[in-house]
Amino acid sequence: MKPPASINNEWYKDTIFYELRIRSFYDSNGDGIGDIKGLTQKLDYLQDLGVTTLWLLPFYPSPKKDDGYDIANYCAVDPEIGTLGDFKKFLTEAHRRGLRVVTELVLNHTSDQHPWFQRAQRAKAGSADRDFYVWSDTPNRYTEVRIIFNDTEKSNWTYDPVAKAYYWHRFFSHQPDLNFDNPKVQQALIHALDFWLALGVDGLRLDAVPYLYERDGTNCENLPETFAFLEKLRAHVDKKFPGRMLLAEANQWPDDTVRYLAGGNKCQMAFHFPIMPRLYMALAREDRFPIIDILSQTPPLPASCQWGIFLRNHDELTLEMVTEEERDEMWAFYAKDPRARINMGIRRRLAPLMENDRRKIELLNMLLFSLPGTPILYYGDEIGMGDNIKLSDRNGVRTPMQWNSDKNAGFSKAHTKRIYLPVIDDYTRINVEVEQNDSLSLLSWTKRVISLRKKHKVFGRGTCTFLEPENDKILAFIREYEDERILVVTNLSHNAQHVALDLSKYHELTPIELFGKTTFPIIGKTPFILTLGPYAVFWFSLEKSQPDTDSVTLPDFLKKSRWFGGKGRMIEQIQVSDNVVNVTYTEGPSERYFVPRILVKGEWVDAFQSPAFCRSLLKMTKAPIRASKIRLLESEQSNTSIIFDDCYILKVYRKLSEGKNLEKEIGLHLTQKMRFPNTPKVVGFIESNPMAILHEFIPNTKNGWELACEALQQGKKFLSEAKLLGKRTAELHIALSSDTKNKAFSPEPYGSLYQQSLYQTMRNQAGITFRQLRRGLSALPSDMLKLATKVLDSEQMLLARFSELRTLPLRSHRIQIHGDYHLGQVLYTGNDFMIIDFEGEPSRKSSTRTIKRSALYDVAGMLRSFHYAATSTLMKEEDAKKRTLLSTRAEIWYRTISREFLTAYINTAGNASFLPADPAEFRLLLNISLIEKALYEIGYEQNNRPSWLRIPLSGLIDILERDSP
Ligand code: NOJ
Ligand code: CA
Repeated sequence: MKPPASINNEWYKDTIFYELRIRSFYDSNGDGIGDIKGLTQKLDYLQDLGVTTLWLLPFYPSPKKDDGYDIANYCAVDPEIGTLGDFKKFLTEAHRRGLRVVTELVLNHTSDQHPWFQRAQRAKAGSADRDFYVWSDTPNRYTEVRIIFNDTEKSNWTYDPVAKAYYWHRFFSHQPDLNFDNPKVQQALIHALDFWLALGVDGLRLDAVPYLYERDGTNCENLPETFAFLEKLRAHVDKKFPGRMLLAEANQWPDDTVRYLAGGNKCQMAFHFPIMPRLYMALAREDRFPIIDILSQTPPLPASCQWGIFLRNHDELTLEMVTEEERDEMWAFYAKDPRARINMGIRRRLAPLMENDRRKIELLNMLLFSLPGTPILYYGDEIGMGDNIKLSDRNGVRTPMQWNSDKNAGFSKAHTKRIYLPVIDDYTRINVEVEQNDSLSLLSWTKRVISLRKKHKVFGRGTCTFLEPENDKILAFIREYEDERILVVTNLSHNAQHVALDLSKYHELTPIELFGKTTFPIIGKTPFILTLGPYAVFWFSLEKSQPDTDSVTLPDFLKKSRWFGGKGRMIEQIQVSDNVVNVTYTEGPSERYFVPRILVKGEWVDAFQSPAFCRSLLKMTKAPIRASKIRLLESEQSNTSIIFDDCYILKVYRKLSEGKNLEKEIGLHLTQKMRFPNTPKVVGFIESNPMAILHEFIPNTKNGWELACEALQQGKKFLSEAKLLGKRTAELHIALSSDTKNKAFSPEPYGSLYQQSLYQTMRNQAGITFRQLRRGLSALPSDMLKLATKVLDSEQMLLARFSELRTLPLRSHRIQIHGDYHLGQVLYTGNDFMIIDFEGEPSRKSSTRTIKRSALYDVAGMLRSFHYAATSTLMKEEDAKKRTLLSTRAEIWYRTISREFLTAYINTAGNASFLPADPAEFRLLLNISLIEKALYEIGYEQNNRPSWLRIPLSGLIDILERDSP
């Protein structure tokens, strides 16, 4: 089995580790113990989380008195959790998902149940078999050596009655140390290494590596013999398995730890043990000193090497690498309950250590992901899992992963009594399922940080320079790699802080906050001032002048697609799966689009290009139709429409949404229930994934827009057309409102609550549009500036007009309307109009489209469209003289057809309840609707087509002037 195809020899620099225990992860067969098959089933979860390397705790046959670090057979799988076959399958599946796998090579010791030890006990003193382990007749050798598990062990020697001698052990007494002076021991362990690397494992964590040799007069740690052995091991790996990684577990001070990496010919990685407690210490003290101090004591690494950094792991939070005083301080702060203490550390998980304070959890994680080194996450910490200090040894941090709110947290179907360790009892609240469905959860946040981290190589590879602002509560540093620079600023305090950073070296660069892509003021030569809320952390990318804030490269097909509605928004992430593209933005809700693709000569192309695909969609509508001629509708905006034999048109929605398909409901209501003849018949639809609707196609038509513009250009009146359009519009509204038995289509009264909300909506829209217009003023050419200023000056008048919505009781009824009514939505057949497209305004959420509104909103839509047709035709005329001429004509044209349209509309609607009988109410509703349309247009044009801004600006002025009493 091969490792992932890309041979990147320094992959461990850019990866993100996830440490997990198979027995705790997922139980696939219901025996109460997590297993390899269970882990394989959860690989999708891990891939989705974004981690890229899995570190598996020991899973070999073992009496498990030290959770499997007491190995009884190096080259096999513990039968309780599966078979070697299961492991091979797991490895293939992990690699298929681009996940690397690191396993444990416990060099220093075995279980006393290992056949090597049992053979040694009985072997002749002095024989090679006996000398697999370290023996002595007295327990008084190597007295300078510390005892690591000082809670359980009193000596590093234990008397063996079978061998009648003492054996040496750095950990539990049931874990005799192997004797590295014996070449057979070395051979045996290299054999174990070959076994796992040959299977395809990507790296090995070398457990307890400082303790391999014993020498009189030393503390038996970090001995030269150990480094010589590691060089030999590495040479072997490089020769036989290039690209595989060795990770040293050496709980030592920085000076000593770097010796495991020195020369670039031993391990490639080592855990940075001393930084870990100092992250907690800095937070407890609200002072950056411990972090900076330990990193300043850390020597540089050989180019090919990398630190592994972590917040928590399967052991106690070790306090071996701090002073005695600091240890007391840490215990007093983080482990007041003595049960939380074990050996030289604290047996608690991250979330409880942080008192479940999200701000502190996030702060430490942000440091984990931005300080130099490769981050290692401990399973369960991504959801904020708790611990159980009542359990023995370090078991309280090794409890089952919490998947959902079912029995046993969804970890196992076994009877609760059979679960190997009790589940933490808050699992109904803290579990993967709950958090996956909550975009604000710790899990969702963690996913975002991981994905951000992965976008910036600088985090894994860059240099790190600490800033020294006067405020000690602020930790700030700059990571640099090639042309990337990231500034990290952290507030370690529980109060708001301000800081002045000397960034003069970076003057003229612009800080862009990475999560929200917000641009901060450009850096000058004077100190850069920042204010930070309690425990706030910022990641800024420092970018050259015109920052390219869109750090995600949109796939080309999205960029070119007219239906993609997110062009004006800042994209955070794009995920493609099957036929669906999920786009998340830095602000506001995410969107999903239907983007089917097919492979043509090795390249992905839009599947709609394939007639076979279009036919398969037609089939899905269940309409009994076959088609030979297939083409796509070219003018389509927000969707994709396929025309079959010029008889049927299938509109496939690009944007996926939940809930009812309003267009289908309206279509069926109009054509089947009301037999409204002026809209094409619905002949089929696809309910979901994708949503699509099949209509009769009316060939050889022009749409109203083309018709109107042509008429104006050719000096035609358009009167009868406008009149007919007014009539059809009223008939449409009658059809949409006369089925009083159907709640969806029965008219509704206004009521003061709705009137109030209408007033608020108008105010909001005006407020936002005016703000945007004001900000864009300086960019406007002088003639447009005049119009814009005039519009802005009318704000008070507008508000006063809106205010009438609260006082004038509205007696007419609101109904289901077209919602996006304009000239482009009507087709002219030569003697009549057909009304199409009941999808509503594409920018509106589908749920709000069912809210009933004044029918005059549609009327206003058409009137605005007349104005657009007139003004844009005028704008197209380049000859100034002709333009003046056309201008008067356009003005008269627009006014007469508007009047014609409106009169026909009113006459046809007659006494329908949607038509206000009171002239004041009619005027108010029509004008408010016109204003709403014009405000929307101003916002739209300013963002998308600034040269057209003139149209809605002059339109709004006109509306206001004509409205004034
Ligand atoms: C280091 C491991 O991390 C720990 O869990 C274990 O108890 C010791 N090695 C001894 O095997
Ligand atoms: Ca199991």
